[in-house]
Amino acid sequence: MTTKHTILWVSAHPEAESLNGSLRADGIRHLLQAGHEIIESDLYGMGWDPVLSGDGIVPPGDHFRVTDDTRRAYIEAKLPADVEREQQKILAADAVVVQFPLWWYGMPAILKGWFDRVFLSGFAFGKDPHDGRRLRFENGPFAGKRALVVTTLGDRPASIGPRGKSGELTELLFGLLHGTFAYTGMSALEPFAVPSADFTDAESYGDHQQQLLRRLDGLFAEPAIPYRPQFQGDYTDQWELEPSVCPGESGLSIHRTATATTGGGRPPNGSARGARTAAACAAPPKRATQRS
Ligand SMILES: Cc1cc2nc3c(=O)[nH]c(=O)nc-3n(C[C@H](O)[C@H](O)[C@H](O)COP(=O)(O)O)c2cc1C
Repeated sequence: MTTKHTILWVSAHPEAESLNGSLRADGIRHLLQAGHEIIESDLYGMGWDPVLSGDGIVPPGDHFRVTDDTRRAYIEAKLPADVEREQQKILAADAVVVQFPLWWYGMPAILKGWFDRVFLSGFAFGKDPHDGRRLRFENGPFAGKRALVVTTLGDRPASIGPRGKSGELTELLFGLLHGTFAYTGMSALEPFAVPSADFTDAESYGDHQQQLLRRLDGLFAEPAIPYRPQFQGDYTDQWELEPSVCPGESGLSIHRTATATTGGGRPPNGSARGARTAAACAAPPKRATQRS
């Protein structure tokens, strides 16, 4: 029997009758049929305000120290109501699906502004307001939650592969997967991507839909991208990879360990398939000891 979970589905597309709108509707229906609880943030539908400003946080005309003042407002429970609602949704969720069309190699502004306004100091990063603990990576506040990107893009499949001109997809999305999901403690899954999205017809839509539903079936079982923990010996106090780890190697893939998700566990639509390169090196013995 499938364990029932709560899933927050955040989507950012202005048109319900689009490829994104169809994938969203089909994905949510499938999760509901599996018995999960769905919380939705359809950002365009909600009229979400993406602009992080001092409105409602500091009096008009006051100097707005963005990190400090939003942190204080969070601790004093004085954030704008729309931000508090989104924070409650995240706390309630076991997994977050973040769905968007790739626009200029990133997420639409309305979605970027959701992260800007909701993922605030004290809540998502910075120091824990209660115990002063540094909130990041394995100490992140959202540890235990899973995160899946569902994206569509105009580029061809090969262009987001290991040698693709647009950059391998997990590297293209490094800021979101590593710098946001993993940073806040979430287990980032390989993104689900529909390339050549502008040429989708009824037949190819059926394939994409089936692949998405399979990925959703694995939302709580699939191995996560094995990003390195921050505080277990892999990094210097300047947050640079220790010289003894992947010696001489550079690039984004050095921030993954080599093996955790390979071998049978690859998702059916992992556009990063085969992307684990020579630079994805093994952890040093020191680290293996610390983990055991
Ligand atoms: C403003 C804008 C920027 C885009 N930037 C990219 C891009 O950087 N890379 C890419 O592959 N496709 C890009 N595209 C193509 C979209 O990703 C594609 O049209 C969309 O995913 C199709 O899904 P939809 O029919 O649900 O909108 C862009 C489209 C727009 C409108």
